[in-house]
Formats: sequence, C-alpha cells, structure tokens
Amino acid sequence: MTIHAPAYVKNPKLVAWVHEMAALCKPDTVYWCDGSDEEYNRLCQQLVDAGTFKKLNPAKRPNSFLACSDPTDVARVEDRTYICSEKKENAGPTNNWMAPAEMRTTLQPLFDGCMKGRTMYVIPFSMGPMGSHIAHVGIELSDSPYVAVSQKIMTRMGKAVYDVIGTDGAFVPCVHTVGSPLAAGQADVKWPCNTTKYIVHYPETREIWSYGSGYGGNALLGKKCFALRIASNMGRDQGWLAEHMLILGVTNPQGKKYHVAAAFPSACGKTNFSMLVPPEGFDGWKVTTIGDDIAWIKPHSDGKLYAINPEAGYFGVAPGTNFHTNPNCMASLDKNVIYTNVALTDDGDVWWEGMEKDTGKLPDHLIDWQGKDWTPAIAKETGAKAAHPNARFTVAATNNPALDHQWDDADGVAIDAFIFGGRRSTTVPLVTEARNWTEGVYMAATMGSETTAAAAGQQGVVRRDPFAMLPFMGYNMSDYFQHWLDMGDKLKAGGAKVPSIYCVNWFRKGDDGKFVWPGYGENMRVLKWMIDRIEGQAHGKENVFGVSPTYEEINWTGLNFTADQFNTVTSIDKAAWVAELKLHEELFTQLAYHLPAEMTSTKAALAARLEA
Ligand code: GTP
Ligand code: SPV
Ligand code: MN
Repeated sequence: MTIHAPAYVKNPKLVAWVHEMAALCKPDTVYWCDGSDEEYNRLCQQLVDAGTFKKLNPAKRPNSFLACSDPTDVARVEDRTYICSEKKENAGPTNNWMAPAEMRTTLQPLFDGCMKGRTMYVIPFSMGPMGSHIAHVGIELSDSPYVAVSQKIMTRMGKAVYDVIGTDGAFVPCVHTVGSPLAAGQADVKWPCNTTKYIVHYPETREIWSYGSGYGGNALLGKKCFALRIASNMGRDQGWLAEHMLILGVTNPQGKKYHVAAAFPSACGKTNFSMLVPPEGFDGWKVTTIGDDIAWIKPHSDGKLYAINPEAGYFGVAPGTNFHTNPNCMASLDKNVIYTNVALTDDGDVWWEGMEKDTGKLPDHLIDWQGKDWTPAIAKETGAKAAHPNARFTVAATNNPALDHQWDDADGVAIDAFIFGGRRSTTVPLVTEARNWTEGVYMAATMGSETTAAAAGQQGVVRRDPFAMLPFMGYNMSDYFQHWLDMGDKLKAGGAKVPSIYCVNWFRKGDDGKFVWPGYGENMRVLKWMIDRIEGQAHGKENVFGVSPTYEEINWTGLNFTADQFNTVTSIDKAAWVAELKLHEELFTQLAYHLPAEMTSTKAALAARLEA
C-alpha cells in the first residue's frame, strides 16, 4: 500500500508517524481528510450505502442521519480508560494505570493488523479557534468513517490545521480503531466494534490510543481524551485549566454581560444550562452559548481568567430534550444533524423519550434504537425505551440560535463566576456561594453526583465526582486540587476580581420521588441571584457552607413556587450532612497522597460549624 501525503502536509514527523501507524494497523487504504463539505457529504453517503447511516426524511430533517450502534457499544467505558504515566502516583488513585511500556506491549498485538480491510482516515483537527493562543491541534487516525464525519462537526477539522502545524509544529497524535479487521471478502457489520476495549492516554508523550469502541468519548478523541485528559496535563504544566464546563454569556436588561463557566457531571444539565431561555419575569435578559461541555481557561495579563470552547459542535443527550426543557436545542436539531441511538418514526423522522411532552401523546409506532418495533403498549409492558438513555445528537454549534457572538473568539471570554453542580436527590441545597476561593475549591472537590447513562455501569449511585472531572482527570486528583488553589493565589496576586464560586443542585426530590425544583429555564432565577451577589445587590444568609439566598431574594415572577417548596430544596439537614462529611472523609483518605492541607482544614472548620 502506498501513502501519498497531500502536498500541503509539510511536517516530516507527521508523515513518518502516519507511515508507522499504517504499517502497524495495515489498512487497505489511507485517506487524508480535507474537511470539505463535499467530503462530508461523500462520506455520509458511503455510511448510508454501508447501512451504518439511515438518511432521515429530508422534508422533516434535511441532510440528517440516524446511526444505531451495537448494543454493547453505547457509552464511555470508564473501567477501560487508562492514564499511563511513567509513575503510578501521577495517574493517582482515581485513574486506572498501567506502566507505559507494559501498555505498549499490551496494545501492540491488538493494533497489529487492526484496520485490515478498512480505510485509515487521517483527520486533522483544531481544538479551539484555529491558531488561537489557547488552542491546540491534533491528528486522529481512525478506521471509522462515522468518526471522520463526526469530527467534521465536533471540531475545526480540515486542511488549515496543516498550516498551523507547519513543518515542525506540535500536534497530539490520536490513534483510533474499532478493532474489527475484515478478512478478504468478509462482509462488514453496521457498527463494527470489539468486546475488548482500551482507551489509553500517555500524558508525558501526549498520545492517545483507543481500541474497540466507535462511540462518543471513546472514539471522538479530540473530546474527553484530548480536551480533558491530555489537556489537563498541558494545563498543569503551562498554568491553565482544562475543565468539564459549559460556558455561557448572560446579559442583563441594561446590556451588561457576564460570563459563567459551569461544571456538572455527564448528563447533569450542561447543554441545557448553556442554552437557557429566560422565563417569564426576566424581560430583557439574554443567555448565549459559548460552549456546552468543555472549557479551556487561561489567566491573562489583565489578571482575569479567559475561557474558550475547544469544540465546534455539540454531542448532546437526546432523551429529555424537548421544546419545553430546551427550545434552543430543539431549534438546533432541525437540519444537518447526526443522531445516534434514537428511535425512527414511520415517516422517517427521529423520536426520543421526552418528545411526548411537546405533542401531548406517544407515537403509535416506532423502530427503536435496536431496530425493534416499539409501541406504547410494548413500552408499558416491557419498559423498553425507544431511544437509548445515552442516545445523542451531533450538531454544529452554528446551528444554535442562542450561539454567543464571541463563541469563536480566539482570546476567549472573561469568566465572572464558576458553578459546580451534581445530581443529588437529597442533602445538597439548590444553591450556595462559597465565601472564598478555597471554600469553593473544597465544594468542587467534594461534590457528589448520581451516576448516569453517559458511562457504562450501574446508574443512580452517588459517587464523589470532584469538579465533575472524575472520569476525565489526566493526572493525580490531589495535584489538580492544588493546581486550582495555586490558580486562586495567582489571581489574587494579580489584583483583579477573582471569580465567585457557586455550588448548585437542580435535582432534589420530594417525598413523591419527583424533582421539586422546576429546573431548565427556571434555573435563570438562581443565575440572576448569583449576578445580584456579584453586583452586591443580594445579601443572602450565611449557612454552614457559605451563603445562600433568602426566599425574598429570588425573582418569582411567573412561577408559583412557595416558601415551603423553597425550603424543601434549600434546607440543610444536619444528620444528612454528618453522613455526607463521612463521604468527604473517605474521599480524602483515598486522595491522601499530595492532598492539599487546605482541604482537610476546610473540612474541619465545616464539621465544627455543623456541630455548633
Ligand atoms: P454530557 O453531554 O453527558 O456532559 O451532559 P450534560 O451535562 O450536557 O447534560 P444535558 O444538558 O444534556 O442534560 C442531561 C439530562 O438532564 C437531560 O435529560 C435533561 O433533560 C436533564 N436536565 C437538564 N437540566 C435539567 C434541570 O435543570 N432539571 C432536571 N430535572 N433535569 C435536567
Ligand atoms: C460525557 O459523558 O460527559 C459526554 C459524552 O459529554 S462523551 O463524549 O461520550 O464522553
Ligand atoms: Mn460531557
């Protein structure tokens, strides 16, 4: 097989690496993606011809496709994800670890010939605005055309990346295979993958190797693997932050704009919050989206933190999304979308759980994400979901009607506040403001959340998810806490106003098992209180953790939410918090190596206030 690098690829190291990987993976052909629309359309048609894509009814969803994955390949696989640093303690106790040499020996036979019968796509991409001083580029080699077309939407992909790399520029090498070579004449399946999976990061050499899955964060290597796990290492070394955060702009009726970055664990409301439509009572307020999942944040010479969205698209959770919960998102999804694992309607459109809220009824018949007949009667009897709970859409940010005009700004936006929020049916109040940076870091570090369908494994179990980064941390978690504390010191020394830190929980449930807080657009009421705090217009009241709003300080116009209900979502139960602090203790025991002393002292102060 010959590998003809296009003339515009001028980096000898890159070309040599592609040769080396092709020699190892042994694809039938190597295809250099140029990122053009013509190429995207051609590859989508190829996916239709192969049966991976179904073209949706163009009258309903123009230029959109549905892919249904293998039922064993539907989410990130955290237990198969490795941080292979030279020293085990640098991966830390929250990551799977193997020595790099041992991992390379393990992967060698798996990658040898793994792309036989397939094409290796060479996918050049930039995380962040092309050429931005906050951005970084990568090259993904993948034998999945689904990954190639997804990367066209999710990243700035194309030829221009080679101009950034030039003859000797750096790039993050990412190798991905579905791990399903084809023998001569062997027919392919719709969604090739392997029961053996490895999602591997070498932080020192900044490399990513992914084997066996074609789904989401396992396969779109620019996202969690690069923009969080590898980038967190870059950020530690270079003095910046790579975070699992949405970024939004919020403009008040006077035209003053604030920027907020918020970390919620997977499937806990980032996309929703980033596209929030202010409810009744908020005339003149506007929320705009900069990013919905990942933020790269750098301190600037003016002493402030500036954030960019390294991505160019949204790979968002479909179930639960409807015109009531997220109208901007629904408007984003009307054309040019790749859907994965949602259901197909009889007229060639898509459907997922939650859409019945818009139409007032369930569809009479669907083909579910596994290709089976679905009817309301079947669903009632078997509990079968039409869409997989982790079904997702892949769509360009430019489809979003609420897209912020600065979303692609190379310098990013100045951050005024950080929000951290888990999914907790009990214990954690609606909103608390940290009294200072250290208490904010403590809140983020000890955050707990119920697990969701975004990762394989048991769901609904409370686990500690520090900074919503548990599955995405590329080095030792305690060192990461220290990095945040150091960042605070640096900001304070710079003299600019340090961002406020808030902790939220939209998910507290009542005795009836239902969410008490209405959530979604109504979260604006909490966001407005935060801005009032920043402006010194709300006093709040101190509790054991920090500052929380009084009932009167929230704008309730247009919402019937009683002081009693407010109490249900804001009350602090002493016994529950004594139990919660034991879980903080367990976390700190696990993270004892390099745990900053500020964490234990903050905990001791909190415990004392709780006892008082
Ligand atoms: P990832 O893409 O996995 O990182 O998820 P995400 O954090 O962007 O979550 P997303 O906004 O997609 O929301 C996930 C699920 O939570 C959806 O089913 C939403 O409908 C639901 N959800 C989002 N916001 C709220 C809220 O304020 N209240 C309630 N009750 N549910 C919410
Ligand atoms: C998440 O799980 O947090 C996601 C989806 O954003 S995935 O890209 O699959 O990681
Ligand atoms: Mn995410």
